[in-house]
Formats: sequence, C-alpha cells, structure tokens
Amino acid sequence: MSVNKEIKRVTTHSLQAMKVRGEKIAMLTAYDYSMAAIVDDAGIDVILVGDSASNVMAGHETTLPITLDQMIYHASSVVRAAKRALVVVDLPFGSYQGNSKEALNSAIRIMKESGAHAVKIEGGVEIAESVSRILTAGIPVMGHLGLTPQSIYKFGTYSVRAKEEAEAQKLKEDVLKLQELGCFSVVLEKIPAALAREVSSTVQIPIIGIGAGNGCDGQVLVIHDMLGINKGFRPRFLRQYASLYDVMNEAVQHYVSDVKAQEFPSDKEQY
Ligand code: KIV
Repeated sequence: MSVNKEIKRVTTHSLQAMKVRGEKIAMLTAYDYSMAAIVDDAGIDVILVGDSASNVMAGHETTLPITLDQMIYHASSVVRAAKRALVVVDLPFGSYQGNSKEALNSAIRIMKESGAHAVKIEGGVEIAESVSRILTAGIPVMGHLGLTPQSIYKFGTYSVRAKEEAEAQKLKEDVLKLQELGCFSVVLEKIPAALAREVSSTVQIPIIGIGAGNGCDGQVLVIHDMLGINKGFRPRFLRQYASLYDVMNEAVQHYVSDVKAQEFPSDKEQY
C-alpha cells in the first residue's frame, strides 16, 4: 500500500510558532528550479530568492544591477520546485525606495507573476511608508537591517555594522518599527552577536541572522557560499558545508580528458 504523504507548507504563522517553542528556523537562498528542489527536499524552512542572485548568478560586483523582471524570473523557477518551504523574494534596488506606490506595484508583480509567498525589503523607518503600503495588500513582508548590501555605496565597505552605540540604537528602533508595522520577520546581517541576541529576545517576531551569531531565531546563508561553489568568498561567519567548486571542477576535467582520449562514450553508452 502506498502512503500518500501530504507535505505541509511552512507559513509565516508556522515561523512565529517556531519562535515561540524555541525551534530554530533554517533559511537558505536559491535562484533556480534544480537547486530549490534539493534545498526544499532537504527540509529547509524558508527559501530566499535573494538579490544576491546579482552576484552569484549574474557575476555582478554588487546587488544593485538586478532588475525586478530578473527577480521574478528567478522566483518563479524556485516556486515551481518548492513544495514545503516558504518562498521569500527580495525587492531589488530601485523597486521600492522613496515611492510607496511603486513599492506596492513591485511587490504585487512579484506575488502575482512568480507565485511567491512573501517579499523582503532592506531598511528601517525611512521605508516605513513602503512597508505599510505593501502590507495593506495582504503581502507578508520580511525586513532586512544591519548590513544592507543595496546601500553599499553609502557604507563604503561590507564590514560589520552597528558596532557603535548610536547605530546599534537606531537598529533596535528600526526592528521595533518593522514589528509594529506588521513585518513577520527581520533579517539581521553582519552585526555583533550580543546585539542580535538582545534584539531577538526583545521582539516577538522571528529574527534571522547572517553573520549575527547564534542568539537569533534562525540562520540564513547564500547557498553558493555554504556549498563552496564560490571559492574565493570566506568571511568569518561562513561555514562551508561542502567544496562543490572542487568536486565540479574535477568532474569536468575528467569528462574533458575522457572525450579527448575517446574513452567517452563507451560501447554501453551508445545506441
Ligand atoms: O540577497 C541575499 O542573499 C540576502 C541574504 C544575504 C540575507 O539578502
């Protein structure tokens, strides 16, 4: 007898329940169907279609060049693969800042055209109007504070944020504001672990950290970094779970030499 195992989708409500019962949330990025299928099947709670696609998929130096159309393309590929995970999509640079109507339109396009479940947006009080307007359409919003890569030209570096008291205070106010507006979660990137722990224990919504220590309610990494596809990127916060660059490179070298030596295909590998 075959058992029909129904897969229960992770929702913003289940993430909230996980925080309440102290179960950590595991989140990873994915940008295409095949990778999203692996990640989803492995039991990830949240798949982030991050604008880091601009770096790892398109080879840009920053996240700024990626367009809304490109994010929707990546997101729809991921949605087709994700059977269990909640799929969250980054609003790209230029699609929400300074214009709440445009922010709402961008978020609606993502939800309608990709079938994703939520959007993520970088910034605090300064984007409150955009966040509110998106929320009024019933679209769940995840915030993103600390190191916000879309503001790299303002910061000048990718180093740790909120080390000084004034910036730490502003970050705490921003998280509270995002919670008050109705965001279901906030990502904190590259900030001191003690600050992230304090924020996580103060607010009700789940805080997901990247380079923010283990006091957060969950963790997120860029899939290419944690699988070691991105060989040169080794920040202190990154744990590399595999060395896929080397594995893939060796496999391709092997294939090239087999083809050159006429060892592929064999008799059994032809018709
Ligand atoms: O775009 C991205 O991958 C992100 C994560 C680093 C959180 O925003």
